[in-house]
Amino acid sequence: MRKLSVFGATGTIGDNTLDLVGRHPDKFEIEVLTAHENIEKLAALARIHKPSLVVVSDPECRQRLASALSDLPIKVEAGAQAMVDAACAPVDLVVMGIVGFAALGPSLAAVRYADAVALANKECLVVSGAMLMETAARYATRLLPVDSEHNGVFQLLDGRDGDIPSKIVLTASGGPFRDMSLDDMARVTPEMAIAHPNWIMGAKISVDSATMMNKGLELIEARVLFNVVPEMLDVVVHPQSIVHALVHFRDGSVLAHMATPDMRVPLAYCLGFPERIDHGGTALDLASLGALNFEPIERSRFPCLVHAERAMHKGGIYPTVLNAANEVAVSGFLSGKLKFTDIAETVTRALDAEAELIAPFDPTTLAGLETCDKKTRHFCSELIKDMS
Ligand SMILES: NC(=O)c1ccc[n+]([C@@H]2O[C@H](COP(=O)([O-])OP(=O)(O)OC[C@H]3O[C@@H](n4cnc5c(N)ncnc54)[C@H](OP(=O)(O)O)[C@@H]3O)[C@@H](O)[C@H]2O)c1
Repeated sequence: MRKLSVFGATGTIGDNTLDLVGRHPDKFEIEVLTAHENIEKLAALARIHKPSLVVVSDPECRQRLASALSDLPIKVEAGAQAMVDAACAPVDLVVMGIVGFAALGPSLAAVRYADAVALANKECLVVSGAMLMETAARYATRLLPVDSEHNGVFQLLDGRDGDIPSKIVLTASGGPFRDMSLDDMARVTPEMAIAHPNWIMGAKISVDSATMMNKGLELIEARVLFNVVPEMLDVVVHPQSIVHALVHFRDGSVLAHMATPDMRVPLAYCLGFPERIDHGGTALDLASLGALNFEPIERSRFPCLVHAERAMHKGGIYPTVLNAANEVAVSGFLSGKLKFTDIAETVTRALDAEAELIAPFDPTTLAGLETCDKKTRHFCSELIKDMS
C-alpha cells in the first residue's frame, strides 16, 4: 500500500486522483485530504477515504468540518500553517492539486518530507521553480509533473539521460476562442470562458486556457522542470488535444506523447510510478479520430501568452509578478469586475511597473517572492478599481 496525501482534494485534480484511488483500493491509502472551504465535499470524501487528517485553509471552516466528522477518528485542522504542517507528513506521494500561489508553502514542505510529489499546481513552479527544484534535489524527492504536456515530455525523456533534446514543443488546444477576433473577445463572459472544448478543469485554469496564459505558464514550467533555455521551447496549436508534447532530437527524430484528453492518464502515471496502472478511461482510437491537426499560434490575438514569454525570457522576479497579476485579474474577470481582454491589460501594466514591483524584490529568497506577490496583488487590485 502506498500512502497518499491529496492537496486540493475537492477540485478537478482531486476528483481525478481520488477516482484512481477508488479503482485501486489494494494499492493506495489516503493519509491527508485538504480543501479551501468546500466543507461538504471534503467531509463526504473523508467518509469514503478515511484519511488520518483533513485540513481546510480557511480557518473559519474548521468548526463546521469538525462537527461534520465528529463520529469518525479523523483529525481536523485549519489555516495556512496547518496546510504546511500537513505537507510534512512522511507519505509515499503528495498530489498537489491546490490552485494558485497558495500551493507554494505546502509544496515547499512536501518536497522535503514526501518520497515523491506529483505536482499539478503550476503557479508555484512559475514563481519559485528554482527553489522547488533545488529543494527536491537536496532531499532526493522525486518531482513528477502532472500537467499533461509536461508529463508527456517527462515520459519522452525518461531513461534518455545522454540524449539532449534540441527542441521541446508543447501543444495547445487553442481553448474556446481559438478563432475569435480580439474585438469579439472583449464581449466574452465568464460562462463562455470556462467552457473548455476538451478538458474539464477548475475555473481559474479554464480562463487561463482561454487567454492562453495557461500555455505561457506552461512554458515557464517546462523551462524549470527540464532545465532548458527559452529558445528550446515552442508551442503549436493542436485542437484535438491528443498529442500533448513533442521532443525533437538533433538527428531529426521527433517523439510525440499521445493520450486521450483525460487527466487520469498523467495522474495514473504519477500514482503508479515507476509501474503503469489502469487509468479507467477509454482507449485512444486514432482511426475513429481520422485526423490530427496542427497550426501556428496567432500571438497577436493572445497577448497573455506574449506577456508570459516576456516574463520567461526576463526571469528573476518577473514570473512572480506575471502570476500574481494574472491571478488577481482572472478573479476580477470571474467576479464581473473586468472584461476578458482586461486580463492581459492588467498583466502588462504590472510587468511594466518595474520600479515598484520588479526592482525591490529578491527572487532567490522566499521572503522576496512572497512580498513581491503581495505587492503585485495590491497594485493590481487598485488598478482594477480604476478599470471597473
Ligand atoms: N484541472 C486540470 O485538468 C489541470 C491540469 C493541469 C494542471 N492543473 C493545475 O492544478 C491546479 C488545480 O487545478 P484544478 O483545475 O483542480 O482547480 P480547482 O478545480 O479549482 O480546485 C482547486 C482546489 O484547490 C483548493 N483551493 C483553492 N484555493 C485554495 C487556497 N487558498 N488554499 C488551499 N487550497 C485552495 C480548492 O478547495 P475548495 O474546493 O474548497 O475551494 C480545490 O480543492 C491548478 O494549479 C491548475 O493549473 C489542473
